[in-house]
Amino acid sequence: MAITAAMILAAGKGTRMKSNLVKVLHELLGKPMLGWPLKAAREAGANRIVIVAGHQADQLQKQFPQSEEIRIALQEEQLGTGHAVSCALPQLDGLGGSVLILCGDTPLLTGETLRKLAAEHAASTAAVTVLTARMEKPFGYGRIVRDSEGHVRRIVEQKDAAPEEHAIDEVNSGIYCMDIDFLRAHIGRLGSENAQNEYYLTDLVGIAVAEHAGCAAMIVDDSDEILGVNDREQLALAATQLRRRINRNHLLSGVTLIDPERAYIDAEVKIGSDTVIWPGSVLRGKTVIGSACLIESNVQITDCAIADRVHIKTGSVLSESEIDEEVAIGPMAHLRPGSVLKSHVKIGNFVETKKIVMGEGSKASHLTYLGDAEIGSEVNIGCGTITCNYDGKKKHKTVIGDGVFVGSDVQLVAPVTVGANVLIAAGTTVTQDIPADSLAISRTPQVNKVGWCLKKRD
Ligand code: UD1
Ligand code: CA
Repeated sequence: MAITAAMILAAGKGTRMKSNLVKVLHELLGKPMLGWPLKAAREAGANRIVIVAGHQADQLQKQFPQSEEIRIALQEEQLGTGHAVSCALPQLDGLGGSVLILCGDTPLLTGETLRKLAAEHAASTAAVTVLTARMEKPFGYGRIVRDSEGHVRRIVEQKDAAPEEHAIDEVNSGIYCMDIDFLRAHIGRLGSENAQNEYYLTDLVGIAVAEHAGCAAMIVDDSDEILGVNDREQLALAATQLRRRINRNHLLSGVTLIDPERAYIDAEVKIGSDTVIWPGSVLRGKTVIGSACLIESNVQITDCAIADRVHIKTGSVLSESEIDEEVAIGPMAHLRPGSVLKSHVKIGNFVETKKIVMGEGSKASHLTYLGDAEIGSEVNIGCGTITCNYDGKKKHKTVIGDGVFVGSDVQLVAPVTVGANVLIAAGTTVTQDIPADSLAISRTPQVNKVGWCLKKRD
């Protein structure tokens, strides 16, 4: 039977993170931690996912808005995992079958494992199937207590465990598949007489056994998958593992990562084959990169669309920009939001752009600011050119026609329009529109006072 429902418990604050931000909203590879178990639940086929929120529920809901698929259940007071599930249950009214129960702080869990868990649950008659793992260092986790025949009897929490139970190396992942009707019938029976005075979801295992409803366990193949993130050390560990998975996929699909341990690529980023990425580069958000591109070291790209055979040199920072084929950028260039570069454009070192369109084959090779500008094709922007786009209150536009040659150290005081094939002499401050095919020059004539320095020295 196909799973349709899932719950993700995410109401806790995450005290050990020592953060103002609730734990499950900490970022991991471009998405909030909670986005990872959510993705796994979707991959396992869940189409009704109840998120139990408590601390910073408003913020959580902003990032995970309610929909036909996603429901937010509020747990005002965090009285334990069992209580959290009882808060979520009303959102599944009318649904039968089984529900996957996940925690918001296990980002390494895969959809594949969840699917297997659901399949095992469906194949058995047990009301509860718990995902477990063997761990060399089980400290902190709930332990799986089995009888002499190996059947699961109950789960005991670290803080409640007897000394001989501390030796058990099979732990509870906190991930389950349960019959919804069983949950509805028995969730009210949980008590809070334990070391933490909490309603433990884990006690449902003992209840299932006592009621002869059955409890099965599935041991996860890779115990790394159930890593719970409780502090920043575990957050970093989870990030490293996720990065390895992502980078491995890129490697296998034909991307060269010079040092796969030092390529920082967000989960949603797409990269074409034969692209080469040098160490220390950070590719963020919804960035798409074409094939046969070269991204040198320490480049940061956020939410950009980059076509094929683009070369981005060391130290460049690009955000929310569109780059056509065979463009060269950098080193140390800064493309701010709204920069659109057509094919064969060249942007050199210490060039900053913002909200511009630059036509095919145009170049700005050194030390330039281009903001709020429309630049034609085959334009040469000389070293030190500045679009003076801001008058202290408003931004104004500069329009430069095709084939224009802008000499070095030119200021274009916007709003201003330069016609096609104009030549602007070096050092000119352009304050008026220039008709096509003209030479524009504004310079104070040079005076040479011969011998003046000699006299001054005497
Ligand atoms: C829980 C399990 C433990 C298991 C471990 C795996 C219980 C009693 N214990 O312990 O057996 O080995 O997970 O990581 O279930 N939450 C709520 N509301 C609450 C309490 C918790 O939503 O009232 C959420 C938390 O935000 C978190 C998840 O439930 O995402 C797990 O809670 P946590 O306090 O971290 O449980 P553990 O002590 O790790
Ligand atoms: Ca935990």
